[in-house]
Amino acid sequence: MTSDTRFAHWRTRVDAALDRTLPDTDQRPYRLHEAIRYAVLNGGKRIRPLLVYATGALFNIDEALLDAPACAIELIHAYSLVHDDLPAMDDDDMRRGRPTVHIAFDEATAILVGDALQSMAFDLLANAATDDALKVAWLQTLAAASGTAGMCGGQALDIDATGRMQSLSELEHMHALKTGALIRASVRMGALPGKASEDDLQQLDRFALALGLAFQLRDDILDVEGNSEQLGKTAGKDAVQAKSTYPALLGMSEAKQRLQELAAVLQQCLKDYGPAAAALRDLSHLAVYRTR
Ligand code: IPE
Ligand code: IPE
Ligand code: MG
Ligand code: MG
Ligand code: MG
Repeated sequence: MTSDTRFAHWRTRVDAALDRTLPDTDQRPYRLHEAIRYAVLNGGKRIRPLLVYATGALFNIDEALLDAPACAIELIHAYSLVHDDLPAMDDDDMRRGRPTVHIAFDEATAILVGDALQSMAFDLLANAATDDALKVAWLQTLAAASGTAGMCGGQALDIDATGRMQSLSELEHMHALKTGALIRASVRMGALPGKASEDDLQQLDRFALALGLAFQLRDDILDVEGNSEQLGKTAGKDAVQAKSTYPALLGMSEAKQRLQELAAVLQQCLKDYGPAAAALRDLSHLAVYRTR
């Protein structure tokens, strides 16, 4: 089976699981539930769930067991996007090709959507049909990656860096938190049921760290070179808002060179894993060369 076929299969799988998990719009509070479904079921690339399944495939893990972490990570990611787009943060009016949640609904609803998605993610893991030890390990991984040592902390650094230049190491630290943490958590949650050795977990974490950086670097490049229709979000906003990005700090050609270096690191990290890592290899290729 080609990776494209597997990715399509995993996307269908996680979309169906998300649809089952999210509250119905015929339950109160109707408008909040409608906004929650609007925020999640809307054609995101589902890269993080794909990473969960692709890492699981490395250890031959039953896909059904991975539905809970795949959904949970996407719920946290969707919440991060809804809040990232708020007027007090990046103030964006377009996401995944549609008006952002605070535009389509209102700001208070968008804040509550994020709040609700976050607790839903942990609820889903706490109630997963597996042993308590695995559930606790998943919960710890996702909580750490979402909090101040992870995505939320990275978003704080991003806001703090807006309008000023950071050093390259500060920039990479910010990216490692705001984007890298959830990507690392995706890989770790996919590996945890496989009784991966400590060495494997560390090696995969090196891979995921580089992948998170590459993913945000590509995002920053696309913000400059892409157009809004292709991206499904407003292009060119980072420069207008004086965001601290790789292209702003290094210039475009050095930013692209850094991305190529990371692509080489990604291949290197997976070289000992053989054919079982095909999906992970193809996902890292997708992250580096994606056009949206
Ligand atoms: C966008 O993430 C925000 C970043 C962390 C760069 P994605 O590019 O994965 O967005 P969706 O989920 O496909 O919309
Ligand atoms: C978002 O980074 C990172 C998050 C944690 C949501 P960006 O602000 O660059 O993401 P986009 O470009 O709005 O998707
Ligand atoms: Mg942002
Ligand atoms: Mg943004
Ligand atoms: Mg961006």
